[in-house]
Amino acid sequence: MTDFPADFLRHLKSAERVVVLTGAGVSQESGLRTFRDDPIGLWAQYKPEELATPEAFAANPKLVWDWYAWRREAAQNARPNAGHYALVELEKRVPQFTLVTQNVDGFHRAAGSQNVLELHGNIRRVRCSVCGAFADAWTDDGANVPTCLQCGGLLRPDVIWFGESLPQAELQSAVEAARICHVFFSIGTSVVVQPAASLARAAQKEGAVLVEINAETTPLTQTADFAFRGKSGEILPRLIEALTLPSR
Ligand code: APR
Repeated sequence: MTDFPADFLRHLKSAERVVVLTGAGVSQESGLRTFRDDPIGLWAQYKPEELATPEAFAANPKLVWDWYAWRREAAQNARPNAGHYALVELEKRVPQFTLVTQNVDGFHRAAGSQNVLELHGNIRRVRCSVCGAFADAWTDDGANVPTCLQCGGLLRPDVIWFGESLPQAELQSAVEAARICHVFFSIGTSVVVQPAASLARAAQKEGAVLVEINAETTPLTQTADFAFRGKSGEILPRLIEALTLPSR
């Protein structure tokens, strides 16, 4: 028994080009907290906006480094969930599939997604804050922020902080894919951070069917052509199942 409208399935089955935008909600069922859930523990006193900035790093590099070290370890100890794997299956069923993610946990590629655009970088990569050289390994003695072997500068996570520009190549590819797609999915994101938020609207303006899969309503819910409320790790596998069933 599928719980998806027949016209939605018809659109998706006939779509040549599909774009999926994901946010932290897609990794929530892997045990990683989203940005705007109630934070708990050590980091509850901070907001991402207070830590994920060049200013915060300049003012207190150790605090910012430790926050990302804690998040990196959480990501390394967690695994992609059924939602990530369902997106791998969806990519196999669509001639031109583009996965645009705001997530930095690397789970989409780890699950097997191929055409992934990481708009906000990747927490598993570390680079020098001065010369930009990537660090394959570093020693974190817990007392000081590790430094670059090339120039001695402080190391930082290779993620995009508030106020920093997004990787232009990835952004350009995401905008182009959104403009020509037949179906645009917004999954597990509160759609509050640009430019991700505007990608969905750009797609719909060009005639794409806009689909939202999210645990709560967002500013996109009202304008989406189809909105499915719930957990992506539950809804996406059911969607793959519905696509596999013979259409009635
Ligand atoms: N399934 C589907 N949606 C979920 C789930 C789930 N299991 N769990 C949570 N959600 C939804 C929440 O309801 C929320 O709308 O995922 C969304 C997560 O929103 P945010 O926490 O704001 O994360 P995100 O949209 O990815 O934030 C965007 O903001 O802080 C910056 O750079 C950071 O990339 C991040 C960006």
